[in-house]
Amino acid sequence: MRNIKSYKSITPTIKENCYIDDSAVLYGDITLEQDVSIWPLVAARGDVNTISIGARTNVQDGSVLHVTRKSKGNPNGNPLIIGEDVTVGHKAMLHGCQLGNRILVGMGAIIMDGVIVNDDVIIGAGSLVPPNKVLESGYLYVGNPAKQARPLKESELAFLTISSQNYVKLKNEYIEEHS
Ligand SMILES: CC(C)(COP(=O)(O)OP(=O)(O)OC[C@H]1O[C@@H](n2cnc3c(N)ncnc32)[C@H](O)[C@@H]1OP(=O)(O)O)[C@@H](O)C(=O)NCCC(=O)NCCS
Repeated sequence: MRNIKSYKSITPTIKENCYIDDSAVLYGDITLEQDVSIWPLVAARGDVNTISIGARTNVQDGSVLHVTRKSKGNPNGNPLIIGEDVTVGHKAMLHGCQLGNRILVGMGAIIMDGVIVNDDVIIGAGSLVPPNKVLESGYLYVGNPAKQARPLKESELAFLTISSQNYVKLKNEYIEEHS
């Protein structure tokens, strides 16, 4: 595919049943586990470090994914690691951070280098998570800078998995219609 490109001879690894919109671009050392969906106009560059995206995660339209190179002061740099069943809302910016499983990143949120988001978290639309913050499992975070707002309700915790299942179903429909 013309939108899936190598960098220094490393080409993205794409496991079974992934959907990548033709207008998205993926460069370099990126791994997509099965059933991942990448929606229109996503830009993901695994050039100066690696990007991995866990099974059933969706990255919605216009999101930007990038990483930070290794350096003397930061020997591993900052790879981008996204877990399973994560929903990344439209136009989010994920840079060199680590997300666990069953997370919702609200539309337009910015998550900066070295941030660790533990499992089962919602980050409100438009929030900014500053470098190296650790977000506790089971909470809603909102604002700029993002602050812990309240524990998630049972319905919201359940929704995290429902959202990823909805996106798996949606991308299956897109695959069927466009293949
Ligand atoms: C934060 C969110 C989960 C709603 O939480 P909530 O507790 O139900 O929020 P409420 O609507 O009850 O509002 C509570 C307060 O938070 C404020 N608020 C809501 N969303 C906010 C956000 N993203 N950032 C900052 N403040 C927010 C409301 O204005 C309200 O303020 P007030 O008490 O001063 O009136 C939701 O607004 C959100 O951002 N969802 C993300 C959706 C998304 O982007 N999905 C991905 C695409 S599918």
